[in-house]
Amino acid sequence: MSAKRKVGLLISGRGSNLKSLIAACADPKFPAEIVLVISNVTDAGGLAHASNAGIATKVIPHKTFPSREAFDSEIDAALNDAGIEIVCEAGFMRIHSESFVRKWQGRIINIHPSLLPRFKGTHVHEQAIAACVKTSGCTVHFVAAEVDSGPIIAQSAVPVLKGDTPETLAARVLEEEHKLYPLALRLVVEGRVRFDVP
Ligand code: GRF
Repeated sequence: MSAKRKVGLLISGRGSNLKSLIAACADPKFPAEIVLVISNVTDAGGLAHASNAGIATKVIPHKTFPSREAFDSEIDAALNDAGIEIVCEAGFMRIHSESFVRKWQGRIINIHPSLLPRFKGTHVHEQAIAACVKTSGCTVHFVAAEVDSGPIIAQSAVPVLKGDTPETLAARVLEEEHKLYPLALRLVVEGRVRFDVP
């Protein structure tokens, strides 16, 4: 069997997408393994899920660095030390420096809880409800210099129902996120979707 590609995860919070990626990688036929989870938040819930699954974790608190570049170079060093080939951001709440994005471009992907290019940034479900859209969903995309703007790898749609609150819509979208992220990661790992860096 060919070697699995080494994946690193960047998280800031509860880590439900991390859990779905861990579950997908547990399948011997899945072409990737998660070898490192980095959080910028000391008590991020996802850290416990990773440890329980026997995955190495590292906390790199952004507040202890003098600049975005210094924080990112610590992340870069940790990823390189672990031999990471592909990075998945899963609820990572920091914006990267341009140099970090350039270094990892084509090898770093993110999940966002809307059908990009609509509703970038935060308070995404509030934005979708305020716009009265009938359909929302989630997107896995390559990370590019501009936030939530890289080339789209895969999307999944859900209906926005009458009476939805940001919470009910978020829950419906999150269920799709958990299916979409492993699928999108597989597409990237297998080279079936590529972001060729000029
Ligand atoms: C998800 O909705 C993801 O799309 C967004 O942040 C949330 C993270 O949730 N980027 P979790 O930490 O994976 O549960």
